[in-house]
Amino acid sequence: MEVKQLDEIGITLKGSGSYLPKQVLSNNDLSRIVDTSDDWIKTRTGISNRRISKSEEDVSYMGYEAALNALEMANWNPESIDLIILATSTPNDLFGSAPLIQSKLGAKNAFAFDLTAACSGFIFALITASQYLQGGNYKRALIIGSDQLSSYVDWNDRGSCILFGDGAGAIAIESNLNKNNLYGFTMKTDGDRGSFLNLESENEIEKINEYLVFKKGNFSKITMNGQEVYKFAVREVPIIIENLLKETNYSADEIDWLLLHQANQRILDAVGERLKISKSKVLSNLSNYGNTSAATIPIMLDESIRNKKIKENDLIVSSGFGAGLSWGAALFRWG
Ligand code: ACO
Repeated sequence: MEVKQLDEIGITLKGSGSYLPKQVLSNNDLSRIVDTSDDWIKTRTGISNRRISKSEEDVSYMGYEAALNALEMANWNPESIDLIILATSTPNDLFGSAPLIQSKLGAKNAFAFDLTAACSGFIFALITASQYLQGGNYKRALIIGSDQLSSYVDWNDRGSCILFGDGAGAIAIESNLNKNNLYGFTMKTDGDRGSFLNLESENEIEKINEYLVFKKGNFSKITMNGQEVYKFAVREVPIIIENLLKETNYSADEIDWLLLHQANQRILDAVGERLKISKSKVLSNLSNYGNTSAATIPIMLDESIRNKKIKENDLIVSSGFGAGLSWGAALFRWG
């Protein structure tokens, strides 16, 4: 395969898809599990409902359904895909769930792998895939965000269990020698603040025999310092978006849509206000689905494209942020 020069190769965005589990968990349902209320949750987070996977709706199942919809919109034959990246923190196979999606899609010519960066996962995967395409050796990529946090939520912790839900979203992107719609991006992590949000392995030791021990491969539940995560998001996200706009010579006025990770309505409002982007341009669907981690951004994008809110050539600035701590942003036009 002939390798193209980096500056010759652009990225275009061709299709989107999503999948939401059928089961709905409402705030009132939660108020019968922990000491909370519909009013408290709505006021503090903006969330009313979230979807919870049934056992068969695991990460690869949801990711496959979302990917299929994205392929249909892009009008791609699965065999034309070169690369599949699955952003997830909750794989159904720790060795990688992406190859299972590749196999179900019949994407025989693609290689597929998982990428873990919690709620920044989708943005990190989009940027990673774009680098493969701009390297010149691959043309078409599917980027999937799929997470099943309900399996790891501590359903006794009212400070965190109210936030999370399950779901998947996907987009299809390709390299283009005549046009570039991905204008810029940035990715950051800070492990020093990693303890604010964790899903760690359990420290359970068992014996192999009389002399040897091993650590069992189980995971504990999600632990979170909500206030610190909140402060991190409202401080850092506007900074990276402002810097990204400056580097790409765009102003906040030119943005058609602010597409943030759907964590908390108060975070969306605060970031929009700091960037002076009008509320009508801040996309939000977290009332229906809560925080689906790596899936929030592609689900929001897919919904907005299918209900014709986002149109061809609209300018979108998107940011994911969360555990790690990690955060990133990308500036692109749809199409
Ligand atoms: N219902 C009723 N009361 C509650 C609940 C609840 N569900 N949860 C906490 N409270 C109580 C607390 O116990 C506390 O009571 P006290 O004053 O008697 O001690 C009071 O409400 C205030 O608690 P805070 O923690 O200060 O509430 P806050 O306004 O910060 O809201 C929240 C909590 C919603 C978690 C908020 O901090 C938040 O959204 N943070 C961001 C978290 C986030 O987005 N995490 C995901 C990141 S993405 C990723 O990587 C997965």
